[in-house]
Amino acid sequence: MFISICGVEGAGKTTQLRHIAGFLKSTGRNFVMTREPGGTEIGMKIRRILLDPENRDLTPKAELFLYAADRIQHIEQVILPALKEGKIVVTDRFVDSTTVYQGYARGIDLELVEKINELVLNGLKPDLTLLLDISPTLGLARVRDQFQLGERAESESRFEREELVFHEKIRKGFLTLAQKETNRFRIIDADRDPEMVKQDVISVLKSALNL
Ligand code: TMP
Repeated sequence: MFISICGVEGAGKTTQLRHIAGFLKSTGRNFVMTREPGGTEIGMKIRRILLDPENRDLTPKAELFLYAADRIQHIEQVILPALKEGKIVVTDRFVDSTTVYQGYARGIDLELVEKINELVLNGLKPDLTLLLDISPTLGLARVRDQFQLGERAESESRFEREELVFHEKIRKGFLTLAQKETNRFRIIDADRDPEMVKQDVISVLKSALNL
């Protein structure tokens, strides 16, 4: 089973991924927790370029291709081998983030984005995608606190520095995708106490795994 999780900055993915890992461990199933960008050694190098706030000159299309390169490496080196071994794969972000960030928010022609995505995926798609939905104002306020507490690295803040309207487009973009593919997406209201969010996340997982 292939599961992805997505959302705007500060939606609480990291916390929920910790809960997901704990839950999967308790079921005794074999699983792999991974992420994009940066799920491989090569990917970590690409991640550094993508998230470094100094890289103001990175063009939207170059950004698109860097995410694509990171994803191909990730699919070939981590995702497909794990799925072949029958493991559950949980990834922190996947292709929907490209459609939404590079397509809907950066404004790259959606047809081009879809073409690249198809090429990269070669038919692979998550079985289940959890969308942690939160108002970007709230998400960004959380992120600001995390920077101040040193829980988030300034060296990875290129997207957090974007204007609120950019993040509003991201939120809308994810919701649009979720409405298009209701079988794959589960929208979780992340604008609540993390413990309540956790309950929803675990109950979605239980039903996906027939537990
Ligand atoms: P995160 O690991 O903190 O979620 O940061 C990854 C950043 O990269 C986040 O701002 C979203 C962005 N991103 C894209 O713009 N396109 C993509 O395809 C992916 C996977 C992430």
